[in-house]
Amino acid sequence: MSYSNILLEEVNGIGTIKINRPKKLNALNVETIRELHEAFKYCNDKKSITVIILIGEGEKAFVAGADISEFAHYDVEKGTQLSAKGQKLLFDYVEQLSTPVICCINGFALGGGLELAMSCHIRLASTNAKMGLPETSLGVIPGYGGTQRLTQLVGKGRALEMILTAGMIDSNQALTYGLVNHVTTLEELQPLAEKIASKIQNNSPSAIASAIRAVNAGQDKSLNGYEVEISEFGKCFGTEDFKEGTTAFLEKRKAKFNGN
Ligand code: COA
Repeated sequence: MSYSNILLEEVNGIGTIKINRPKKLNALNVETIRELHEAFKYCNDKKSITVIILIGEGEKAFVAGADISEFAHYDVEKGTQLSAKGQKLLFDYVEQLSTPVICCINGFALGGGLELAMSCHIRLASTNAKMGLPETSLGVIPGYGGTQRLTQLVGKGRALEMILTAGMIDSNQALTYGLVNHVTTLEELQPLAEKIASKIQNNSPSAIASAIRAVNAGQDKSLNGYEVEISEFGKCFGTEDFKEGTTAFLEKRKAKFNGN
């Protein structure tokens, strides 16, 4: 498939998706959201890709939000649809992928941009990054899961301060908040993501998928995370990866996982 708004490459089992609308600070229009869905699906379905990295093109922005020019004239019904469709197609979809996604926040991550970063499993930021949910300054609220995921990641008080002030925080504050795991220079950002990816690649893809499901279950009020953990733990005992991992340990060799 060819894309107009994103770039996709696979190197060493890492699928790197780059959002490529730098003139619009990589703002998420409907077409980019659809293309991102396709690219994430492609990477997740491809067996040779075991980690996905997401980054924005350029040195200024990861994503400066949903494309304001697209929704400025929407009514209540269209606004509701925009949020519901976006959450299903991209934000919930990314969070629930079995392939881990590392997000490189390489500049502004605002509104839908921060919401997309928060849907990813691991976040890193460059020193120039700025993060915020400025929607209330536009007369709207975060609609791609931001009110929920920011609260889960940084706590209610900090989330409400960020949302109600519509302000931005820098990467060091984001690190203190636990919103990102690491901060580094712009040049070192993608290499750091690749280093973390290669550590993940030593481990069992089927166990990694189970771990993501169990951790996500804890955030889902309709599920009991502990029960899901028991079930996912049990399922691991039926996988080839479990046999390989435990056998390799006992034979004092490095495991070679096939993800089954
Ligand atoms: N939607 C649509 N276009 C956007 C955009 C967005 N969320 N964010 C930036 N752009 C566009 C600008 O309109 C401008 O396009 P133009 O050159 O055709 O006029 C271009 O990207 C560059 O942005 P600009 O505002 O000129 O850059 P800046 O350095 O002066 O400011 C920001 C950077 C991020 C502070 C500013 O662009 C901004 O506030 N963006 C909106 C952030 C936001 O509210 N996001 C939440 C949306 S729900």
